[in-house]
Amino acid sequence: MINKQHFGKRTANFRRRMGLSQAQLAEKLGVSTQAVSKWETAAALPDVELLLELSKLYGVSVNELLESDGFLAHIASRSFEERDGIACFVPAETNSERVQWERDMRAEGWIARNWRAAWGQPGGWSDSGNGGSVAGERGRPNDLRIGRKIAEHGGVILDIGSGPGGGYMPFVLQADPSAQIIISDLSHTVVEEWKRFLDQELDSPFLYYAALDFCDIPFESCTVDAIADHGGIINCIGNQSTALRECYRVLKPGGILVSLNGFVTKEALASLPDHAQQALLKDYPSIFNNLYEDTVLAGFRKIDSMVTDTWTTDEGDSGIAELARDLGVTVRFTEYVRFCEK
Ligand SMILES: C[S@@+](CC[C@H](N)C(=O)[O-])C[C@H]1O[C@@H](n2cnc3c(N)ncnc32)[C@H](O)[C@@H]1O
Repeated sequence: MINKQHFGKRTANFRRRMGLSQAQLAEKLGVSTQAVSKWETAAALPDVELLLELSKLYGVSVNELLESDGFLAHIASRSFEERDGIACFVPAETNSERVQWERDMRAEGWIARNWRAAWGQPGGWSDSGNGGSVAGERGRPNDLRIGRKIAEHGGVILDIGSGPGGGYMPFVLQADPSAQIIISDLSHTVVEEWKRFLDQELDSPFLYYAALDFCDIPFESCTVDAIADHGGIINCIGNQSTALRECYRVLKPGGILVSLNGFVTKEALASLPDHAQQALLKDYPSIFNNLYEDTVLAGFRKIDSMVTDTWTTDEGDSGIAELARDLGVTVRFTEYVRFCEK
């Protein structure tokens, strides 16, 4: 659908990104400054020839300039239903536990709190007195650094399993408020809540929203420049190696996957008494899953890793922490971020 408002915002953002004033753009195109101003305030659309000139200048398709859902339609490998600006490639949740989780997320305003925590604003989890994540607060400087790296890579960024935390998206946006990001999750509610929040907070025409399964990414091969994964793949509903292969497939050559993963290393496992090793391997095999081999098998050749945090079960109250206490041991997790290049 042609959308004047969308066109106005997009053309203004592209112009600013190129460091051009309205007068400079008008001069380049041989039109008046008033004409450019009218486009940007959604009072008018340019002629077809000028639209073509603008699309060449900005390096995007005419569809992308005119249609709010144009970009996702352009890279999609299958049809989808567009609902309130969200491309729905998967059906809504029916699993009762997940539906309850979605209700809690909405009712308790997790998205706004996570956003504020990411931006270091009042009202985030850390000052809510409501059990903010210690590891999350500690991780912010690294998240900011990594967000900047992803923003510097530029192009179209697919944030997978964005979740109520938004993945790396809030950090990329701190580095570049006009970054082009597809915010995605299996949960429609996660994506809807982010759209509702960010439409108010930023109203950026460079954000896209998709309910999709990252184990079966509904995009053509070689269509995105970067994939940001802030703990989605490790907590994947589906198969982790399939997810990594899908990430590799949709990345353009030279594209990057930035993936955060917390696990118990072989050394940390070996330091535990035998009875604890056996009990943990039996009940929580996934905590030892480092995904390095799967990343190589997916096709990624250049993989740089950086330790971003460590924590122990003494700090938490999860099921694993409870088991560790029952076993009389402390289990150490190491959090890595991997920069993988296609
Ligand atoms: C632990 S959260 C990820 C953390 C999140 N990125 C953050 O920064 O808070 C896991 C998220 O991944 C989503 N997810 C899990 N499996 C998925 C899949 N196969 N496709 C898309 N999203 C998935 C879940 O719905 C959930 O929102």
